[in-house]
Amino acid sequence: MIGKLNHIAIAVPDLQAASALYRDTLGAKVSAPVEQPEHGVYTVFVELPNTKIELIHPLGEKSPIANFLARNTSGGVHHICYEVDDILAARDQLKAKGARVLGDGEPRIGAHGKPVLFLNPKDFTGTLVEIEQK
Ligand code: CO
Repeated sequence: MIGKLNHIAIAVPDLQAASALYRDTLGAKVSAPVEQPEHGVYTVFVELPNTKIELIHPLGEKSPIANFLARNTSGGVHHICYEVDDILAARDQLKAKGARVLGDGEPRIGAHGKPVLFLNPKDFTGTLVEIEQK
């Protein structure tokens, strides 16, 4: 069912420092920070030959990653995102196999303008999984 790895999202306490690390130390192509108010994060996109890394940092009072950073003060891998051909078919297949979809189970428009869903990390070896319509 799952296709390509679309991105790995890393929550970071200092967006400028993390951008500089990926740009200057690791030599990657790094975007300017993009505000995503509907997701409560700033995102910096790091382009790799085969996938993307997204550096995410809290935006606003009720950012969904604030608690994660409070627990992981140096930052850490927040979620991984796999592409699927048909997000509703994927959701129904996952639910039929006992996986729990977060929220109300309806896809939302993600950071790339495509429908996404998040899956309960307890059902996926402790990793928050995002699926994104291809
Ligand atoms: Co994501």
